[in-house]
Amino acid sequence: MTSPGSAAEAGALLPLRSGDGSFSLHSAAFGEAFHADRGAVREAVETFVRPSALGRYDAGRRLRVVELCVGTGTNTLALLQACDDHGLTLDWWGLELDPRPLQLALASDDFRRPWDAGRLQALEALATSGRLLWGDARHSLAGGLPDDLRGRVDLVWHDAFSPRRCPQLWSLEVLQQLAALLAPDGRLVTYCAAAAVRAGLQQAGLQLASIPCSDPDRWCHGTVASPVELEHDPGLRALTPMEREHLTSRAGEPYRDPDGRGEAPALLAARDLAQRQHPGISTGAWRRRWGVGTGGPTAAPQ
Ligand SMILES: C[S@@+](CC[C@H](N)C(=O)[O-])C[C@H]1O[C@@H](n2cnc3c(N)ncnc32)[C@H](O)[C@@H]1O
Repeated sequence: MTSPGSAAEAGALLPLRSGDGSFSLHSAAFGEAFHADRGAVREAVETFVRPSALGRYDAGRRLRVVELCVGTGTNTLALLQACDDHGLTLDWWGLELDPRPLQLALASDDFRRPWDAGRLQALEALATSGRLLWGDARHSLAGGLPDDLRGRVDLVWHDAFSPRRCPQLWSLEVLQQLAALLAPDGRLVTYCAAAAVRAGLQQAGLQLASIPCSDPDRWCHGTVASPVELEHDPGLRALTPMEREHLTSRAGEPYRDPDGRGEAPALLAARDLAQRQHPGISTGAWRRRWGVGTGGPTAAPQ
């Protein structure tokens, strides 16, 4: 039996200072931090803002964005800032399960410090605008967003916990729903480079590129996916032969959640089973072929 104390601990969100000194949280329930070690604000800029290439849009334009997993609102603040820098009007929808990360962040001086008052007010206004849809993002995607967003969203930012911890939000079905939101030149941007997710995005009809990174111990800072070719974008990098083969290995077996209600253990077990039938080489064989480690920063994304 779970005592009330341990249940509270299991759901605990612990504030922490990330690598660039900015505010972050650790989730006991998911066993993961909210942001990359290099820093929450740094990740927001390097992984989400820059690969979105807002310079593609003329000043004065309305930018439609769907943000999956708003959490503390760090990415949202970076987006608000970038829209101001480019003279864009933000038309934003956010999806989030838990109101506590945003509450904890807004109550923290450490969180507020890097941002000016106007930006913080804009975040607070978004949070109470009715555009932040609380609850399981699968349900919001299935029925909470307006129908007329379909095919008209410029950016989808996907920042769920990792696929092994939160497979519900990385299933083929969710990726297909997100792909259907995108405008013809829209972009889905995520920190995730897992083969299961990239292969799922491909199956959803999107083209892929990697988000380049200067750290020699890492492949990349994530993935951009779009209905159009991305290889001409100087801010992105084409997938390497190693990355392309990763998608065809057993690691490329997507997570599946046909009724949109599966729990993580069931989705993980079903994928493990499907991987055994997968015609591609094993993930181990792929790792040996390319000398990819099984631990540390050069580990293959799960
Ligand atoms: C990695 S954190 C997001 C970090 C966030 N982008 C930020 O800037 O702080 C993942 C978030 O996913 C949320 N989450 C987990 N499961 C979810 C679900 N099924 N639907 C919607 N949000 C979910 C968590 O509450 C958490 O806030």
